[in-house]
Amino acid sequence: MKAEAAINQEETIALEEQFQLATYKKMPIVAERGEGVWVFASNGDRYLDLYGGHAVAGTGHCHPHVVKAIREQTAKLLFYSNLVYSEARARAAEKIVSVAPALLTKAFFCNSGTEANENAMRMARMATGRENIVTFTGGFHGRTADAISATFLGRYREIGKPNVPGHREADFGDIDSVRAVADESVAAIMLEPIQSMAGVRGAAPSFYRALRELCDERGIVLIYDEVQTGVGRTGDWFFAGSDASDEVVPDMVTLAKALGSGVPVGACLVTERIASHIKENDLGTTFGGGMIAMAAVTATLEAIENDRMIENVRTVEAYLRERLKEVEQVVNVRGRGFLLGLEFADKAKPVHEAMLERKVITGTSNDPKVLRLLPPLCLKREEVDLFIEALVEVVSGG
Ligand SMILES: Cc1ncc(COP(=O)(O)O)c(C=O)c1O
Repeated sequence: MKAEAAINQEETIALEEQFQLATYKKMPIVAERGEGVWVFASNGDRYLDLYGGHAVAGTGHCHPHVVKAIREQTAKLLFYSNLVYSEARARAAEKIVSVAPALLTKAFFCNSGTEANENAMRMARMATGRENIVTFTGGFHGRTADAISATFLGRYREIGKPNVPGHREADFGDIDSVRAVADESVAAIMLEPIQSMAGVRGAAPSFYRALRELCDERGIVLIYDEVQTGVGRTGDWFFAGSDASDEVVPDMVTLAKALGSGVPVGACLVTERIASHIKENDLGTTFGGGMIAMAAVTATLEAIENDRMIENVRTVEAYLRERLKEVEQVVNVRGRGFLLGLEFADKAKPVHEAMLERKVITGTSNDPKVLRLLPPLCLKREEVDLFIEALVEVVSGG
């Protein structure tokens, strides 16, 4: 069979514009190949990817250990559902639990972040017999019905109308506002421990401790949505249990994004206590726990370990923060590890666009003054130097 001739950049863009629903604001890049922190476009341009393919390329693009594991799995079995056992699934479940805080002992696999959050909220309702859920102004939890109803950010709840009933809003970082809405009808308090889309907003460690105490006092399930903060991004395997969390471990952690290095996968990690309330057929999804995703999960976690990426995040974050001091237009650096928000005195969007012209991919956020960085965990000092060089040029109008 004759191979189809490649189409050029303009043709590719035209086809997508013609045949895809126009739901995304896209950068003018036709991504063809990736390697570590680099993305290569079909026109030969090379981009430094400090957005990590939307926080997904935690291990970097096409990490060889992950690619090899996926290749080997595809040659053996593409898929069989949870109605059979599988070595790939057994290994992935064991591995993820082994790197999680000790209290989180069981995994449920699904396919995305929103699905992980839907299942987490459902489990909390099952475990408590209550219906209401408290989430926070500025938090983002996904776009399916329950998750979007839990998303008090921008106009998401508006998009998701009619909303699922029983969602209550509190102010992130303000425990009194949580106390006011988290009464004994509340099944769960769910939060992004660092609110990424809101512009990388964190809270004091004492806030997480106070949430834990409130949940214990009122029999509420505490859920960390670690879809962005999990899997090494903040310089710990998870925000749960870290110093930044005052070592607080929630009853559930939800994951997706970087968990499969690009293969769609989500997960809920839960305590024994929560697990004891969940019976056969309470949760389920055809593709969750599929062999390719599971091979990707195990290989992702191994690659992070083998390449000492968590240590790398910590040292390179420190270096990046130091170098950012040279850029006076950056008035504040928010976040932790490789989930950073660079706050400018003025709008960040023109910086994002000018960086793109210099072949550096960054992210914007719902805070117009914040530029987000979510680079692969393997980012090196030399690449930070390239970023700073480009940023200095951009902000000085060069
Ligand atoms: C914190 C957080 N939770 C949930 C989601 C939803 O994940 P997904 O797009 O995989 O459904 C996202 C996606 O950006 C997220 O950032």
